[in-house]
Amino acid sequence: MSGRGLILGIESSCDETAAAVVERGARTLSSVVASQIATHAKYGGVVPELASREHLRAIVPVVRASLAEAGVTLGDLDAIAVTSGPGLAGALLVGITYAKALAFAQGLPLIAVNHLEGHIHAVLLQERELPEREKRDGSSIQFSQVSESRPGAPSSPDTELSLALVVSGGHTHLYLAQPLNGTWKYTLVGRTLDDAAGEAFDKVAKLLGLGYPGGPWIDALARFGDPRAVPFSFAQFKAKVHLGGKAPRTKGSVTAPIAALDPHFLFSFSGIKTAVLRYVELHHLRPEAEARREALFTGPDAPARPTIEEALATCDPTTLDLIASFQHAVVGDLMKKTFAAAEALDAERILVTGGVAANRELRERFTVEAARRGIRVAFPTLALSTDNAAMIAAAAWPRFVAGEFAPPDLTADPSLALGCAGAGPVRAAT
Ligand code: KG4
Ligand code: ZN
Repeated sequence: MSGRGLILGIESSCDETAAAVVERGARTLSSVVASQIATHAKYGGVVPELASREHLRAIVPVVRASLAEAGVTLGDLDAIAVTSGPGLAGALLVGITYAKALAFAQGLPLIAVNHLEGHIHAVLLQERELPEREKRDGSSIQFSQVSESRPGAPSSPDTELSLALVVSGGHTHLYLAQPLNGTWKYTLVGRTLDDAAGEAFDKVAKLLGLGYPGGPWIDALARFGDPRAVPFSFAQFKAKVHLGGKAPRTKGSVTAPIAALDPHFLFSFSGIKTAVLRYVELHHLRPEAEARREALFTGPDAPARPTIEEALATCDPTTLDLIASFQHAVVGDLMKKTFAAAEALDAERILVTGGVAANRELRERFTVEAARRGIRVAFPTLALSTDNAAMIAAAAWPRFVAGEFAPPDLTADPSLALGCAGAGPVRAAT
């Protein structure tokens, strides 16, 4: 143990094997991510058995690389943190078993971290690192990723009541995050009833013959189409009575009942997916999509790593308009409900995190809207938006300080929920 507050984070909940060393939840010494995209791409989505096998292969070299990159040894660590859920059971177990063995062998405390809390801490880590970096570099660094819409320096990332939109391939959740005696209290205030936003990006991309994961392809191609060409709309949920208090099932998890949630903060992305499918049928875009898939990914002459330019060359204006309109509609819906929740719950700022937070249109429009409404919004860097282990090590820091360690029989919880569900507000004297 170095006493420097060094935590090794391990993340294996889905299709990325990641390890990172973070000092006191505020300084990333290393962050290594081994992506399994190449393994799953040919199946158009994550295959759980393959994910577990790839994690088994990658975990030892990835942890070694993270220690080497940080310039530390196992003996320097003060704790080990691992994602315990939500996620794929077999994938989670690889990380948990390895972290447990390492903690036991080194006599170190083990800290269990909820993957969604990790995503929230990706933004907080980024914010904590800014003043550190400014001190180190002796100059003011660009505030490009954490965008400040209000004038003046940001206050401490750990004191503000925040509305967090966690938007990824498995989740579209709104949490009120409240700092409380050095740790954080989370209240689930909104969520998707069916598909996650990232899942919709992936399914639409697959339908159009684009690669996996779909988000980055849609993001890159959307700029070439007209976002207003296809007028997609979203249902507004009006009464709690429709929802029946059932726990909706989404890709990776079953989470808290939604009866307690304000219907204005509920999302649904299965409808737009079906609307895109109908549009594709109506405009006879299927043959073009199949030809695209073959030219870019499955055919004998498909390039090893197709570029955006190559993909663009296979898209006619109708397809590009459809892509742009789909993205515009999804981002618009995320924005509308997130800002409404932030205002209703009196949040001091908005945090947007998870893989979809890497989306360019999302970042631009959230930033413009935040400036218009006079509320601050922050995003992680692109590398911290998608799955990584630095966010897990950062989320573990307050638990380390509070002495909240995992029991020896810690196991994977594929549907682990974060915080309690409720309409808020949870504003209270801290
Ligand atoms: O957070 P993440 O790496 O893994 C999960 O926890 O799910 O998120 C992956 C998701 C995928 O659905 C992917 O298509 C989406 O994030 N994604 C994006 C972009 N980059 C990744 N969606 C929209 N635009 C992007 N630039
Ligand atoms: Zn994630």
